[in-house]
Amino acid sequence: MASTRQIRNIALVGFMGTGKSSVGRMIADQLHFTFLDTDDLIESRAGKSITAIFAEEGEAAFRKMEAAVIAELAARKRTVISTGGGVAAGPGNLDSLREHALVVCLWASPEKIWERVRGQTHRPLLREADPLAKIRELLAAREPHYKQADVLLNTELRSVREVVQQVLHQFKLIRSKAR
Ligand code: S3P
Repeated sequence: MASTRQIRNIALVGFMGTGKSSVGRMIADQLHFTFLDTDDLIESRAGKSITAIFAEEGEAAFRKMEAAVIAELAARKRTVISTGGGVAAGPGNLDSLREHALVVCLWASPEKIWERVRGQTHRPLLREADPLAKIRELLAAREPHYKQADVLLNTELRSVREVVQQVLHQFKLIRSKAR
């Protein structure tokens, strides 16, 4: 696998509320890369919100759309890809991303995630009586997948700017080694 990798892009994976979109936009600005969000792409293709897709078609249908979008990204160049929180756990998604992107996982504890997302309403998976328990359960189930990323960055004690600098550093390092 490693020998066939061509790292042209950066893919951010990780749980909801770890800052993938804000970090991704800043990295794209700095590198003059295109920014792409897999959830936005899914919504524009489906012509409806993620919440409506979950409600009307179910999570399994959403995961299929997600996997199709991930597979198409292999054609991208100079792109920073922010992915939905469940992408890393989808069969084949990480392998696919790794072919063309440095895969960076943004990490935070369940408590920190809850603190960041509690005011937001657009995440169907957290519409639960006990959202913090749901975050703990999903994070534990996904942890082995997230840990397969090339770089794992704890965002709890770092500002967005510091996380961006770390990702840029890792990207430049790996690209200079590939030359
Ligand atoms: C999901 C995370 C969401 C979105 C969907 C499912 C998940 O994306 O893809 O609600 O399974 O964790 P964000 O991580 O951008 O919130």
